[in-house]
Amino acid sequence: MLGDLEIDPPLFLAPMAGLTHSALRTLIIRFGGVGLLATEMLSARRLPSENEKVSPFLIRSFEEQPIAYQLFVTECKQLAPAIDAVQRFGADVIDLNLGCPAPNVRQAGGGSSLMNRPDKVKEIVAAARRLTNLPLTAKIRLGERLDKVNLLNFCRMLEGEGIDLLTVHARLRKESFCRTPRWEYIGFVKEHLSIPVVANGSISSVADAFACLEQSGADGLMIGRAAAKRPWIFAEIARAVYACQVDEPEVILPYLYKDMVELLIDRFRPERRLGRLKEFTSYFSENYSFGHRLWATVQSSKSMDEAWEGALRFFEKNEYGKFGGLELEQKT
Ligand SMILES: Cc1cc2nc3c(=O)[nH]c(=O)nc-3n(C[C@H](O)[C@H](O)[C@H](O)COP(=O)(O)O)c2cc1C
Repeated sequence: MLGDLEIDPPLFLAPMAGLTHSALRTLIIRFGGVGLLATEMLSARRLPSENEKVSPFLIRSFEEQPIAYQLFVTECKQLAPAIDAVQRFGADVIDLNLGCPAPNVRQAGGGSSLMNRPDKVKEIVAAARRLTNLPLTAKIRLGERLDKVNLLNFCRMLEGEGIDLLTVHARLRKESFCRTPRWEYIGFVKEHLSIPVVANGSISSVADAFACLEQSGADGLMIGRAAAKRPWIFAEIARAVYACQVDEPEVILPYLYKDMVELLIDRFRPERRLGRLKEFTSYFSENYSFGHRLWATVQSSKSMDEAWEGALRFFEKNEYGKFGGLELEQKT
């Protein structure tokens, strides 16, 4: 339980800029098995002036719940209007981004740069805690260097200021996604905190889920890139690891891709669709041995029509001529 919210199974969608949007969330919940959805990071400064019916970061259908809204905060004074806004938008959980290593986010004074400023984070968390009764969570990386004392002091401070659940992406700030994550460090954090600790980093199969749980003893798992490649991964892990009553996923990749294209058309304004399809395709195309061809044709497309036609040609070749006649139900 997270406050009054039951997260069952304890499988969390990771916030991912450009990827964790209404269309991907919808694909994921159709398969089932996800316990808590997420938005991508939302600028606390800009949020109050956004229109949630139009903003591609905020558009959301009724079925996409429960959901955490992730805030990228740089100043305490941004919190009241931002928290007020996400509460109006129907957030079930508010997550603070303390781990993003992207240079623009760090330069603005947010994300992982905040891990170097524990006093400032303390103020931000305390203020956020006073402003909302919703579950308040935080997502961190391991920090600048391997320093267990520093890491633990930071995590204890978060817990002390009222964070209800902590997600740990088991990499140092500068480490790339190619590096093996240090799941054992999540175990170290978990051992010393009383709040639930969720493990994140390179969980992309049922075997990874078991291995990560064994190494970390985490209370839950957060999945990022694998959710874009295989939106059914939550269903697989929910069944295999948490013995949930979720249907065995039946996946036909070209149909899944068609669903994504249709959801993007349904949810986003025309100029917002193609970029998101390209981002999704970067991960989805890894399902194919020659997926770089799908990736290349979509990346070079100038319109949704062109991308869809290129994808169809790819499917026709790769799936033995079976999907050449697949048609979209809506016009792009
Ligand atoms: C394209 C992309 C965008 C991301 N955007 C965010 C973000 O907005 N907020 C955040 O906390 N982490 C963000 N992350 C990090 C992920 O949430 C996650 O910690 C990371 O991908 C490791 O998990 P994974 O190995 O399951 O992908 C992003 C990662 C990717 C690949």
